[in-house]
Amino acid sequence: MSDKVYPVPAQWKKRALVNDEQYKKMYAESITAPDKFWAKHAKRLDWFKTPKKIKNTSFAYDNVSIKWFEDGVLNVSVNCIDRHLKKRADQTAIIWEGDDPYYDKKITYRELYEQVCRFANVLKKQGVKKGDRVTIYMPMIPEAAYAMLACARIGAVHSVVFGGFSPDSLAGRINDAQSKFVVTADEGLRGGKKVPLKANTDEALKKCSGDEKVVVIRRTGGAVAMQAGRDVWYHEEAAKVPAECKPEKMKAEDPLFILYTSGSTGKPKGVLHTTGGYLLFASMTHQYVFDYHDGDIYWCTADVGWVTGHSYILYGPLANGATTLMFEGVPNYPTASRFWEVIDKHQVNIFYTAPTAIRALMGAGEDFVKRTSRKSLRLLGSVGEPINPEAWEWYHRVVGDDRCPIVDTWWQTETGGILITPLPGATKLKPGSATRPFFGCKPALVDDKGEFLKGEASGNLVILDSWPGQMRTVYGDHERFVQTYFSAYKGMYFTGDGCRRDKDGYYWITGRVDDVLNVSGHRLGTAEVESALVSHPKVSEAAVVGYPHDIKGTGIYCYVTLMAGEQGSDILRKDLVTHVRKEIGPIASPDLLQFAPGLPKTRSGKIMRRILRKIAEDEFGNLGDTSTLADPAVVDDLIANRQNKK
Ligand code: PRX
Repeated sequence: MSDKVYPVPAQWKKRALVNDEQYKKMYAESITAPDKFWAKHAKRLDWFKTPKKIKNTSFAYDNVSIKWFEDGVLNVSVNCIDRHLKKRADQTAIIWEGDDPYYDKKITYRELYEQVCRFANVLKKQGVKKGDRVTIYMPMIPEAAYAMLACARIGAVHSVVFGGFSPDSLAGRINDAQSKFVVTADEGLRGGKKVPLKANTDEALKKCSGDEKVVVIRRTGGAVAMQAGRDVWYHEEAAKVPAECKPEKMKAEDPLFILYTSGSTGKPKGVLHTTGGYLLFASMTHQYVFDYHDGDIYWCTADVGWVTGHSYILYGPLANGATTLMFEGVPNYPTASRFWEVIDKHQVNIFYTAPTAIRALMGAGEDFVKRTSRKSLRLLGSVGEPINPEAWEWYHRVVGDDRCPIVDTWWQTETGGILITPLPGATKLKPGSATRPFFGCKPALVDDKGEFLKGEASGNLVILDSWPGQMRTVYGDHERFVQTYFSAYKGMYFTGDGCRRDKDGYYWITGRVDDVLNVSGHRLGTAEVESALVSHPKVSEAAVVGYPHDIKGTGIYCYVTLMAGEQGSDILRKDLVTHVRKEIGPIASPDLLQFAPGLPKTRSGKIMRRILRKIAEDEFGNLGDTSTLADPAVVDDLIANRQNKK
């Protein structure tokens, strides 16, 4: 923990939307009078029918129910596009920066309107109706944004699947959402490499119901197979439909999207977000956390396949009439200067990225940064995992020239928007701390028994009351929603994160306390990697844990027991890594894989992960009590054959 404190810079005190005093006042009101507070802030959206009922939520274990603005009626695409046309038709809504630095594009709000309407009409012609689920498996091109907003326009529910996921992962998500429509592209392009999205979709659909329709965007022009009756080219269909499409009137609690995310058990679950509360929260957090002012150029480097892309590339910024930058590529292509060159090229003022990218670029050396100007930058942001103080300091000193505050924003797919964060004009910064709660967020720390911890303490992070951006349910499985988030500590939302609160009341997220790994800011369940491993014919059993990794934050360490008669080898190790990549996607690549003749189990057969974690973390001296193991000797073997860190 760093004890350095960075005060709010003088110029920020002058121009910021809120100072410390205003933050405290607004925060207090959001907690003590939520109905009044949120009714007032709901005015930032355009409603067909203004909500009168504001908050109707219960965290009670036997009745978890979350409704916000339930009698309100609105449309998300109208809020993100139509309402801006009067004032900003010619303002750039989206700056698109291609994988190849030679290509970029600016899309005005008027163009966005036409593109989204056209896309909506194409979807309608394919048979998409209000409430239908549309799976979007796309590269980072403007059409991904058009497709999402088109769904919102016609009341369809999008389910974006990150383009790095495998055909199997895609199929699982299509089937779980009972989605009959897929939007994809011929190929994606990242770091000069092609990603076979259409071919992956073809492969995935072999495992689906067989009555899906596919809309294909032409991105690279690479050859793809088109199946007559199932697949259509977007550009051909778009030419046949008008550039006007009436928006659906949606109730605030109608679903807006599903986004699959990993948990500690089972398959990824479909996190369901609804219309009114989500949009309000995305828009409000975007404005206050990034201190967004009219005319700012804002860039979030996430992929739209993750929640950060949903809330802070698309919905938050566009609801605020901002200019949002969408980047197709990767941080180190063509060189490790790419981020900083893009910032200079488009004069970016606000830059939001992940610690894993910062650590990787830090490793590439300061020269890549120093050769660029970055004078346009005013604010930096971090998201996705704890940022270590060294990376924070480097980001502040080298990238931000000691001039730009850093907002370290803690939140989750489930929370819809940022919940714990500094506000740049209000909050003194401490490197590595997400600092204080955003409006409407009531965090607390509890011990393993659920007893509240007061003052300075470390414990499990829970949230005591609902906020508008909260997920409403797990798609198709409300019971799983209740069990996952509300059963560990009754009456509270459990985040799955460990956290420390310091003497100033600042929150320091320490990482997941469940079996979820945060690998390069991507969430993975150990159970998912384990089930991918055991689906290999030579594997009998597998246990997966995380270990500290310099760049990724958490690396994936796998212990694998082979079928009787099988022999571990480097070739088999590579084969298993490839197998996991094929089953889940490259983000799940095991970093270290150890063949283990036996796993440490209790007499009742439960794997003692605590011991496996300690060995992976190199902490053998501290294994704790191993006397309950059925066969304590397996531990010596595991230690003797531990894989070395790369
Ligand atoms: O462990 C926390 C970590 O990322 C988890 C949520 O992952 P996901 O749903 O994929 O959403 C990522 C983007 C919001 C959290 O449970 N996390 C996220 N932001 C931070 C963080 N950990 C520490 N500091 C953060 N700023």
